[in-house]
Amino acid sequence: MSTPLLGEMSPAEAESVYFNEYPPPKTLPRHEALARAFIDLHVEAHRRVVLVTSGGTTVPLEAQTVRFIDNFSAGTRGATSAEYFLEQGYAVIFLHRQYSLLPYSRHYSHSTNCFLDFMDEAPAAADSSNPGHGPIMVRDEYQDQMRSVLRKYRYAKQNNRLLLLPFTTVSEYMFELRSIAKLMQPLGPDALFYLAAAVSDFFIPRSRMAEHKIQSSELPEHMRGSAISSDEIYTGENEENPSSNSRKLVINLDPVPKFLHQLVDGWAPEGSMVVSFKLETDPSLLVYKARTALQRYSHHLVIGNLLSTRKWEVVFITPDEPHERWLRVPKSRRSKSISGAEDQVGLAEAKKGNPSTLEEVEAQQVNETSRDGIEIESLIIPELVKLHTKMIEKKTQPAQ
Ligand code: PMT
Repeated sequence: MSTPLLGEMSPAEAESVYFNEYPPPKTLPRHEALARAFIDLHVEAHRRVVLVTSGGTTVPLEAQTVRFIDNFSAGTRGATSAEYFLEQGYAVIFLHRQYSLLPYSRHYSHSTNCFLDFMDEAPAAADSSNPGHGPIMVRDEYQDQMRSVLRKYRYAKQNNRLLLLPFTTVSEYMFELRSIAKLMQPLGPDALFYLAAAVSDFFIPRSRMAEHKIQSSELPEHMRGSAISSDEIYTGENEENPSSNSRKLVINLDPVPKFLHQLVDGWAPEGSMVVSFKLETDPSLLVYKARTALQRYSHHLVIGNLLSTRKWEVVFITPDEPHERWLRVPKSRRSKSISGAEDQVGLAEAKKGNPSTLEEVEAQQVNETSRDGIEIESLIIPELVKLHTKMIEKKTQPAQ
């Protein structure tokens, strides 16, 4: 009988097999200590805490990793959302892919927004002992925007409102998510999970992974297996007789277990709110897939988005009325996006003519704009906070 795939096991079995196969990341004890102290501080202050996951996870092809599979996510959704949560008074644990975008510094770290372009060298003072070296200044036209970002950043830092915890691989993400969710138990309904990370759906289990760099050309004589033809396919796995002259690399990936069940039913605090995301590229699938996820994991909200319109529209899929609610940035306030396709806006909407029209969003007097327009996260987070508040009230008010 062949060993069942993790995706075919019960959630509890899959959890036990998955977490026993990998050593926990070396950074985990330190991250746990930081998270524990952060959570204690905010429990004491009766402050809500949101765990924001952000960015993509890598899937290593070798144990001593040279190559890995990655995905498109830059962490824009997570980093931007974290700022709006902080503005709403939440403390934020930002579990992010290392080197992806971070709250606040994202305004100056993107490759199209290089921080050096915001700076200038001012002339040296007339009495300077070093007339060739003027002070480095922020250019006039960026002063206001940078002051505002800097103030918010410093406020978050000085008041201990933002904890940054990085991961890289999919297994690091899993270990971190499980540990932090469990540490959030004392928060009860004040805990919110906002799972915006683009977690890999497929991976190579440790038991099948090559230890060393997968070879693409001739191995030395003593390391070759039996006679191998030159067009042989090398799978990259832990093979007894590695191919000496391979042409193709065929990678055999297993499904990554979805631990949302475990998160909702075990790791997350009783009464907390769990929000997951659903990304699709086919407009006709988005609402269906988001609804299916909500039914499967019985959590509180799925935020659906299309790759091509994700900066301008999202859909809230909820168990309660109205079940499907679209939030859109009005056309005149949309930021430019190289990868975006404006002609796809509205295509994924299943219930046409639902109450959340562009006019309604405009009427909400969105208060936060970037230089290029409104950020969709400035619509998402206040709506989400309203839902979280309702949930907290329900949990904490005595039954009539
Ligand atoms: O970073 P950006 O460029 O701004 O892009 C943002 C985004 C498009 C990545 C984001 O808005 C988004 O949609 N993220 C979720 C992508 C997705 O479709 O995930 P999924 O269907 O594989 O997973 C569903 C949910 O479960 C997600 O919330 C995911 O974070 C979570 N998940 C998935 C698998 C897994 N093993 N563990 C998880 O926690």
